[in-house]
Amino acid sequence: MKIINSNEVITQLSFIEAIKVMEQCFKDFQAGTISQEKRMVQQLPDGENHNVFAMMPAYLGKNRYFGSKIITAFPNNHKQNLPSHLGEVLLFDSKNGQPVAMVNANAVTWIRTAAVSALATKFLAKKSANALTLIGSGQQAASHLATITCVRAIQRVFVYDLDETRRKQFILQYQEDYPELTFIECSKLEEATKETDIICTLTPSKTPILSRKNIQPGTHINAIGTFTPDTRELASDLMAFGQLYVDDYQAIKRESGDYLIPLAEGVLTETAILGSLGELVTHQKNGRTDEQSITIFDAVGLAVEDLCCAEYIYEKIKGVVLK
Ligand SMILES: NC(=O)c1ccc[n+]([C@@H]2O[C@H](COP(=O)([O-])OP(=O)(O)OC[C@H]3O[C@@H](n4cnc5c(N)ncnc54)[C@H](O)[C@@H]3O)[C@@H](O)[C@H]2O)c1
Repeated sequence: MKIINSNEVITQLSFIEAIKVMEQCFKDFQAGTISQEKRMVQQLPDGENHNVFAMMPAYLGKNRYFGSKIITAFPNNHKQNLPSHLGEVLLFDSKNGQPVAMVNANAVTWIRTAAVSALATKFLAKKSANALTLIGSGQQAASHLATITCVRAIQRVFVYDLDETRRKQFILQYQEDYPELTFIECSKLEEATKETDIICTLTPSKTPILSRKNIQPGTHINAIGTFTPDTRELASDLMAFGQLYVDDYQAIKRESGDYLIPLAEGVLTETAILGSLGELVTHQKNGRTDEQSITIFDAVGLAVEDLCCAEYIYEKIKGVVLK
């Protein structure tokens, strides 16, 4: 079995490639030629930590692969200088059931999550968008900076994090990598949201960070950080006001606190979801239609994304000519 470490994942799967792989993944998912099972998410009974262990199985077809991502999400890991997500993607050959590769899941998750947000941003943000806000300046902020700049001509980046040291360090590090961008450190949320076009929420917050009053007309929001029924980053009034798109109807209706909490309050109805990313990439839905609407992409992360990335990396390393 081939063991593929995080450096190899990052070398073999550029952000641009990942956006293309995710586009094909969502086309196949929409067509029903690839599928996933409901994921098992265990909230570890370890008190206040809210640590999570998850198994995420998916099947890519009879001449391709199947397997599972096995992953932990430990929100406080950054205090020990460790990534919040750790685990492996196990890839099996669909022809004979043989395990063929074990791929570092932290790197896959880092890249694929941001690639999916970029794909949604392509369909939902204003074409003229040139300002990006990162709420949470951890690992996902770095990959989101890389992918969102692939799909929109970003000039200014507002960075907000509760932890002053982390937001300062983030800007110090990435200003060097992106000399063409202006980074603005924000100590208050309002500074980060009042002049922006695209907001990515990338935190493990248990209580809403953004409400309707924080958001200017025409803003697109990628709500990425939370993925359990009792955690959320967006307040109910914002969820009810925004035009809502999701990575997958079923997964959001099972797992997203951003969606489930306002639904339980009666502020949102099930018809509030206007479309999925699969419907956007196959042009069954239009996405943004005007300059003034507030659009929201709520994503909990899907096993098919992980398996498609793992397949791509494994086949590239094997030297297989890609589709
Ligand atoms: N939806 C998905 O597919 C998906 C995939 C990967 C990660 N995630 C989630 O995205 C989030 C970010 O992941 P990461 O790897 O960058 O984590 P990280 O631990 O590296 O960074 C999170 C950052 O958020 C900051 N933060 C926490 N609460 C905040 C708040 N209320 N306001 C502002 N900043 C706050 C922390 O200080 C930290 O710097 C995590 O919750 C993770 O579980 C979701």
